[in-house]
Amino acid sequence: MKRLFILATVAVSIIIVAVACAQKTTTPQQELTKHDEEINEIIKGMSLEEKVEMLHSKTIMSSEGIPRLGIQEIRYADGPFGIREEIGDMFMPKGWKLDSATYFPTGSALAATWSTELAYKYGTGMAHEAIRRGKDMILGPAMNIQRIPVGGRTYEYFSEDPLLAGALAVGYVKGVQDQGRAVCLKHYAVNNQENDRGTVNAIVDERTLREIYLKPFKAAVIEGGAWGVMTAYNKVNGFWCSENAYLNNEILRGEWGFNGMTVSDWGGTHSTMGAALGGLNVQMTGDTYLGPALIDSINIGKIPESVVDDKVREILRVRYTVKAIPEEDANIVMASQPEEQRIAYEVASKSVVLLKNENNILPFDLNKVKNIAVIGQNAVLSTAAGGMGAGIKTLYEITPLKGLQNRIGDAATINYARGYKNYVRSWGPPVPNPNNAETIDEAADPEFIAEAVKLAKEADIVLYFAGTNKSIETEGSDRENIDLPVGQDEIAQALAEANPNLVTVIISGGPCDLRKVNDLSKAMVQGWWNGLEGGNALADILLGNIAPSGKLPFTFPLKLEDSPAFALGTYPQKKEVVKENDVFVSQYRKNDIKTDSVDKEEIDFSAFFRRPVNGPDAPYSEGLFVGYRWFDSKDLPVLYPFGYGLSYVDFNYSELKTNKESYQANDVIELRFTIQNTGSMQADEVPQVYVHRINPSVEWPDKELKAFSRVTLQPGEEKTVSLEIPVDDLRYWDEESSSWQNDLCNLEFLVGTSSKDIHLKETVSLK
Ligand code: BGC
Repeated sequence: MKRLFILATVAVSIIIVAVACAQKTTTPQQELTKHDEEINEIIKGMSLEEKVEMLHSKTIMSSEGIPRLGIQEIRYADGPFGIREEIGDMFMPKGWKLDSATYFPTGSALAATWSTELAYKYGTGMAHEAIRRGKDMILGPAMNIQRIPVGGRTYEYFSEDPLLAGALAVGYVKGVQDQGRAVCLKHYAVNNQENDRGTVNAIVDERTLREIYLKPFKAAVIEGGAWGVMTAYNKVNGFWCSENAYLNNEILRGEWGFNGMTVSDWGGTHSTMGAALGGLNVQMTGDTYLGPALIDSINIGKIPESVVDDKVREILRVRYTVKAIPEEDANIVMASQPEEQRIAYEVASKSVVLLKNENNILPFDLNKVKNIAVIGQNAVLSTAAGGMGAGIKTLYEITPLKGLQNRIGDAATINYARGYKNYVRSWGPPVPNPNNAETIDEAADPEFIAEAVKLAKEADIVLYFAGTNKSIETEGSDRENIDLPVGQDEIAQALAEANPNLVTVIISGGPCDLRKVNDLSKAMVQGWWNGLEGGNALADILLGNIAPSGKLPFTFPLKLEDSPAFALGTYPQKKEVVKENDVFVSQYRKNDIKTDSVDKEEIDFSAFFRRPVNGPDAPYSEGLFVGYRWFDSKDLPVLYPFGYGLSYVDFNYSELKTNKESYQANDVIELRFTIQNTGSMQADEVPQVYVHRINPSVEWPDKELKAFSRVTLQPGEEKTVSLEIPVDDLRYWDEESSSWQNDLCNLEFLVGTSSKDIHLKETVSLK
């Protein structure tokens, strides 16, 4: 009996080990194919019409399922920082009562936490609200590289660095998908400007494409296991993203093993043949291309029906994996709940970046500071709505002023003045508002200045809230420059003259030209668009309830002209560039199309090819040298470097060691070093590891981020940080062999607190 028991135990253990191994070898993408047999049976029983019905929009935010079989449609929700309110045709809000969401900190704010754990939590929060709303697929994360400082969607995106953007996207994706909802990575790919986004043709060399622009997407698909991908509006190297067979079929599905579904950006589908053969599953929105025209093209033998079957299979995989929520179970409680609001607070509290702190003016001490002047409309204006698709109908929003009032209570007097007029872009006839400016560069109003100066003179400290808003930074257009708008520099000057204790907080999603305010202010803080709890988090930092720990996810250049695309004159592009023909049209010319049964000359090809509007070419001439890769390689001074952010404590870095002196392909480099908090309060630090190649055989940027971590340290505490860098992550894309290759050279690992503040160095070799 005992023997039997032992045998049984051994057998059970073996089974457990076998199951564990089997689980280990299943990649997140393979998980998606679990129901393929059943799905294939369903497809066999579907008519062509029924299948094609699934390949285009049903409503502005859904695409069809199989009603005959009770298989629900797929319901999409913008994304990326809060589940968008219910909208109908023309994106008009339906005015529901329970669809107020948690407004989470926007992309650049989340990125400033440099925390994959927080990105994961953020994803869980988004997914829980999607579930309450009955939504299946979140249109996010938005994760393109911030190539130009003026980019309209810089605030939506994560970083100028692909490793950081990818790591955050992986966290977000896992957070969402572990709760059983799908993500839709956007915008695949090379969607780095908003001007002409619907027509621009990004011309980017293969190495740069792979190492910079595709890298975050690759991580989110392979490591994150993303189930959905949104194709971008623009073209890449001549082909619309929604029909870019190279990006969608060869790379995404072929190389990365993506088993999910692609969705075009709204209005970003351009042709039937292109979309059908170029890897698009769902046309959003409308059915012009993947609707009746697709049925025609199959009936006359231009496209094999198996192409449609593949698309349906990929959609059904997602439908089977993301459990449909019955109508009666959705929208029965308010979308935003305290659990998500707490996540929003936590992210906000770790995203705020302290840029400057002369004489430790921050945190300010309420025993000494009894009169606080809060100046600037950005202290009171909401940042949740606006910016188009990414606007949030938030349940509530703690503005900076409200946050200060909440945390300070009666301990000091807080007086507020508007400081400057607010610039609001008007789509219709302007509504007169004495608080609003007519143009973005309107000079400061003397009356507003006088009001602010009066308060500043009486105050012990002046908190000046400058920055942009969602009229200025928005989807659909880029900023013309990064200047502070509406005379904000002028107000800063007047405030500094009135009171030397000037602290400037920038409320913006992207970088601004801060040279002037920086000189005038004792302290500078980057406060972001930080979600519905942003004001509370900011107040906690200004008051020293917590130490600031955000780090810049992109460079603040001294001036815009220093940044690569501006310096090289490739952005902005000249509008008049119009080409005779479109390279896409020639991709699927008549001879590529199998039409044995039809006389090719008799076919009206205009039904299959819409001749697209030709936009400008955007040559990515800087190549790999994006963001800090450019500034550091050219040795250009910047105002605040990538990765930068101060704390209220100091950290001591020591004892960098690697596990070996020399490495080979397939090795993993292990780095260890020690950090000590030498201050008197708990604080987080974000150590960053960069690599510099010493004797390379190909061109490299001066340094590249290769690993990072976020560490919490008590006063005086010391911790050893271990980070791993697979040698594979150091490879370059060799255009000649179309493959990843090792550059066998000496590598200097640099451990620091920004791309420019390096504390430790260690050299190893790659053989
Ligand atoms: C945006 C997408 C968004 C979609 C749906 C588009 O204009 O580019 O990011 O998800 O609209 O709102």
